[in-house]
Amino acid sequence: MKTDHVQSSVRALTVQAPRAPLSGSLQVPGDKSISHRSLMFAALARGTTHITGLLEGEDVLRTADAMRALGAEITRTGIGNWTVRGCGLDGLHEPADVLDMGNSGTAARLLSGILASHGLTAIMTGDASLRSRPMRRVMDPLAATGAVFLSRQGGRLPLAIQGNANPPPLSYRLPVASAQVKSAVLLAGLNAVGETRVEEPVATRDHTENMLRHFGATVRVEPMGAGGRVITLQGRPELVARDIVVPGDPSSAAFILAAALLVPGSKVSVRGVGLNPLRTGLFTSLREMGADLVISNERVEGGEPVGDITATAGALHGVDVPATRAPSMIDEYPILAVVAAHATGQSRFRGLEELRVKESDRLSATVAMLEAGGVKVEVVGDDMIVHGTGGAIPGGGLVQTRMDHRLAMSAVVMGLAAGQPVRVDDTAFIDTSFPGFITLMDSIGAGLAA
Ligand code: S3P
Repeated sequence: MKTDHVQSSVRALTVQAPRAPLSGSLQVPGDKSISHRSLMFAALARGTTHITGLLEGEDVLRTADAMRALGAEITRTGIGNWTVRGCGLDGLHEPADVLDMGNSGTAARLLSGILASHGLTAIMTGDASLRSRPMRRVMDPLAATGAVFLSRQGGRLPLAIQGNANPPPLSYRLPVASAQVKSAVLLAGLNAVGETRVEEPVATRDHTENMLRHFGATVRVEPMGAGGRVITLQGRPELVARDIVVPGDPSSAAFILAAALLVPGSKVSVRGVGLNPLRTGLFTSLREMGADLVISNERVEGGEPVGDITATAGALHGVDVPATRAPSMIDEYPILAVVAAHATGQSRFRGLEELRVKESDRLSATVAMLEAGGVKVEVVGDDMIVHGTGGAIPGGGLVQTRMDHRLAMSAVVMGLAAGQPVRVDDTAFIDTSFPGFITLMDSIGAGLAA
């Protein structure tokens, strides 16, 4: 499948409020962050890794293709079931062609760390969205490996990387809270003799650290300051294949749960959702708004906490989300903004500068989405202020989704709880992270296909 597949088939959708409340119990596809990492790390390990619950979205399929091009044997054996025969840390081959990372910043940035520390030359590109996103945030720290980078102006893809097979270990303090940058530096450290060290002033999702340990690496994590961490990795570990169970993606569950909270009378459960504390800022914020969210059946699966979440519709009030919470809900602001639009009173989300460099400029795209739905919203510095309507929003507009899957899903949810139908210009990009979203929504009564 080529990346162009998504771009060439625009799927517009008009969404209106369903006739009856949403109800039911379902599972969402596997976590995107963990899925990318499981394919990459398994490809770097010796032996065969079996993965269950892999997200089969466009983004992750790009990672699978890239790791195949680098020499791993990757096979799909059933729905969400994949096997990876790894090459070992020093066993990657030079790819014969350009690596197309599609829409995926995670794939491109993490792979940069791997490529910088191998003695091969590779070129990465992506779709128009990814080609507009900053790669300097990984090129800058990775330059200290001795790898050579050649990008377009402003550090944009396509990017050629001539890696160094004997890189020195890096020591880096993250200037922005980014799990992708942290991961790129740690991955470069896998092939370096000695200790790689990353300081993050605010903790970001730690799936890389957890999974590297799972495959046998020595990773130490120590607290630093108020909410920060220092991560150290011993280089040249023996990574050994270990099976992986991918939990349901909390960032995907977010859309289903938000819809259930907003469509009057609804009650929906999502089973098997990843509950890593560095991913659950949205649930904290929703609860602060008075949302009825109940977590049950908590357990640990594949080294990650998992549980079932039930959302019941009800009255919500505005919330003030601190900037320190942003890394634990960075992908959830568009959908939280939709929820805040229905709440009573004003909501303020602080410190959203990183939203400007996501699949779209999500700060301006979220503002435009809410305005299309007839909601008053402001940006003050890096904060977003949403003026809640205290019930169904007016709706009636056209949302431009800007090649951004999360914008598209947020707009769909907005339409389900609006007075007038909401038009969404293109839902095709939803497939990057949540294939089957429309069908799953319809299984709980959304009536989207109709
Ligand atoms: C991700 C990290 C986040 C997030 C992205 C996935 C990851 O990006 O927005 O969807 O898997 O590491 P940043 O690390 O750039 O904040």
